[in-house]
Amino acid sequence: MKNFLITGGAGFIGSNFVLHLLGHYTDYQVVVYDKLTYAGNLDNLLEVSDDPRYYFVKGDICDPGLVTETVRKYEIDTIVNFAAETHVDRSIMDPDAFVKTNVNGTYVLLEVAREQNLERYHQVSTDEVYGDVPEGYSSIESDPVAPRSPYAASKASGDLMTLAFFTTYDLPVTITRGANNIGPYQYPEKVVPLFATNAIDNLPLPIYGDGRQMRDYQYVGDHCRAVDKVLHFGEIGQVYNIGTGHEMENLTMVEILLDALDRPGDLIRHVTDRPGHDRRYSLNVDKVRQLGWEPEFTLAEAITMTAHWYRDNEWWWRKIKMGEFQTYYEAQYGERLGSAGVS
Ligand code: NAD
Ligand code: TYD
Repeated sequence: MKNFLITGGAGFIGSNFVLHLLGHYTDYQVVVYDKLTYAGNLDNLLEVSDDPRYYFVKGDICDPGLVTETVRKYEIDTIVNFAAETHVDRSIMDPDAFVKTNVNGTYVLLEVAREQNLERYHQVSTDEVYGDVPEGYSSIESDPVAPRSPYAASKASGDLMTLAFFTTYDLPVTITRGANNIGPYQYPEKVVPLFATNAIDNLPLPIYGDGRQMRDYQYVGDHCRAVDKVLHFGEIGQVYNIGTGHEMENLTMVEILLDALDRPGDLIRHVTDRPGHDRRYSLNVDKVRQLGWEPEFTLAEAITMTAHWYRDNEWWWRKIKMGEFQTYYEAQYGERLGSAGVS
């Protein structure tokens, strides 16, 4: 395992994972394969752009010809698939791209991995495949998937196809299911970077419904270390949950975030809820801990560090918020906030 194809490596977690790999393993080569959708951003990889071990290929994971050519050209032995459409609210507006990339694209990568006899195919998945989790329970890896949004359903499909390729063709696969990641380079449609950047500009923070939904907001660096651990020490054919094992209400997350940015609570606006909003996700993370991994940061530390990164890196997010983002924001929040809330 030393020639990696990191699909979706120009996105949030993928780019953090590329920086992690190149920072920790001197003999690894990393090829980022990314379509550069609205969420892909080569600014995330500026730190390694001159590294001779790093290559970039612009391409779609749904394109078997280009994936095969890239795997052959760079003698890839391992695919780590981060490429996906990832935002639940966008999947509610228009699920089409979610099915294409997350279902069909995953299938294309699995077929190439099989044809080219790769050493490993790793699928990066999400806690959302388990669906809404009742208070007092935490999901374990053998639980049935019960996705409720188009995004979650498309990710669960990718997981099932990945496991089918293990069972049917003996393809050496592993899967990780991560809780909500936060940290540097996250597109400001997800709640923490959206609220941090809005708060910095004294714009309202649109909380869906009562704001008492619960999420495990883990630091992206912790998640990347866990994926690394599973790649090197995980058992083939197995699924591993990744998170802190603790969750908090969105209102608590907002309090910590406003405190970190020294902004007042009256920026909070309760707005119309997301349809089918999952109230709670909660992961049991004993299995990945048994590989010798544990998170370094608590949720509160992760939220504060993330808020400070956005405060200190306006160069990164201001240009994003000027572009495609504005059309999306108007469609998603225009009516919810009224015109006063949309800058
Ligand atoms: P992101 O939206 O920031 O980035 C996705 C990347 O994939 C972008 O660079 C985009 O250009 C690329 N991409 C999209 N469609 C593509 C295609 N057809 N071909 C090639 N590239 C394509 O996503 P993220 O938050 O970094 O998530 C990465 C992975 O982790 C996803 O699979 C997601 O489901 C999973 N995940 C995310 C979270 C989270 O909190 N963000 C939590 C658990 C799991
Ligand atoms: P999000 O970052 O979209 O991640 P996910 O839905 O995949 O967990 O949302 C995290 C939580 O924040 C979720 O409970 C929905 C809520 N939320 C809001 O209250 N307002 C918002 O504007 C957004 C984007 C999310």
